[in-house]
Amino acid sequence: MTKTDSRRVVLAYSGGLDTSVMIAWLKEKHGLETIAVLVDAGRARNLEELRKKALAIGAAEAIVVDAKEEFAHDFVLPALMANALYEEKYPLVSALSRPLISKVLVEVAHKAGAGAVAHGCTAKGNDQVRFDLGIRALDPSLKVLAPAREWGMTREEAVTYAASHGIPVALTKSAPYSIDENLWGRAIECGPLEDPWAAPAEDAFSVTAPVAEAPAQPGILEIEFEAGEPVAAGGEEMTTVDLIKKVDTIAGAHGFGRIDMVENRLVGIKSREVYEAPGALALVTAHRELEDLVLPRELSHFKRIAEQKFADTAYNGGWFDPLMDALRAFMEETQLRVTGSVRLQFFKGACRVNGRKSPNSLYDFGLATYGGEDAFSHGAAQGFCELYGLPLKVWAKKQMVDGGY
Ligand code: ARG
Repeated sequence: MTKTDSRRVVLAYSGGLDTSVMIAWLKEKHGLETIAVLVDAGRARNLEELRKKALAIGAAEAIVVDAKEEFAHDFVLPALMANALYEEKYPLVSALSRPLISKVLVEVAHKAGAGAVAHGCTAKGNDQVRFDLGIRALDPSLKVLAPAREWGMTREEAVTYAASHGIPVALTKSAPYSIDENLWGRAIECGPLEDPWAAPAEDAFSVTAPVAEAPAQPGILEIEFEAGEPVAAGGEEMTTVDLIKKVDTIAGAHGFGRIDMVENRLVGIKSREVYEAPGALALVTAHRELEDLVLPRELSHFKRIAEQKFADTAYNGGWFDPLMDALRAFMEETQLRVTGSVRLQFFKGACRVNGRKSPNSLYDFGLATYGGEDAFSHGAAQGFCELYGLPLKVWAKKQMVDGGY
């Protein structure tokens, strides 16, 4: 590690108004020179342009980090294995990228010998907690700065500050939303959406078609999984990043994947949230379905409890908490047999499963039949008993008692 320089700060730069103002503000108020970092977790646009903008505003350095693969493997796949949906609806789009960005910031700080990192969050949301906890977990010696919590500027004041410091501002009248997007989906907040009764306007969405414009014919898409990971879509094997993009595009074109909810934020605020995450929701639907086919009952039921804890912990900024390591290990263990295919049908805003198969299927597992002991000599039952180290008869008896047969 390079020697630490307390005058250098690594900033999670988005290119928007607040983090642009921050570059000038950190210099003016704290005498800090900024290393601006643009993290690409998918769906990022104009990165090179934004990098130049940071330099023009006065950043000492500005770098782009392509973290798409890391995001897909280390954050999205574990969330998919856990079928993670906060409050049973939200696939953790922003909650998954914050720990990734924290990790990148800490790595850059170490390389550059910076003594502090900064993020652009205000005091109202969850993202500040995710950054604060994430950075602290990875390196408690780094100072965490959150200028937007400190400076007390309204949006208008920030615009004025920008103007007086020669910072270009893209005027937001036509785009009244605060949008956070990555490979796993898009979060759309603010402006007209703050009224929970107001229907979201079409301009909030960019991946999902309005249902009225979705194709008149259903679309079929088969997803293949291997040990819990999606490996092929529509019969074509591809990388996780490409696969998510493909499912996203197909599901979105059929108008599937919009979420409109009132969410309980960690900071004690209820907020109206609009998301579009067609790929994430379609993959969770398919993955769950395959689990229903291959996971034994007790494991399946307990996993749902663990899934909820996983989603809550990730949502609340605990990605690097030891609890999360243990939950991830549990999830991975459950995925060993989650191999097979699920057929999805998309039509006019809906996604329905209409077929599933697996070499590890526990379906027609004897117990549903009245065939007596013979039923238990079925291959799948045999395999199940071997898996659990149970003699077939003992297991069968136990199931009959438990299951009330
Ligand atoms: N409510 C969501 C969450 O807490 C989305 C946050 C989106 N962040 C943003 N800066 N627009 O994860």
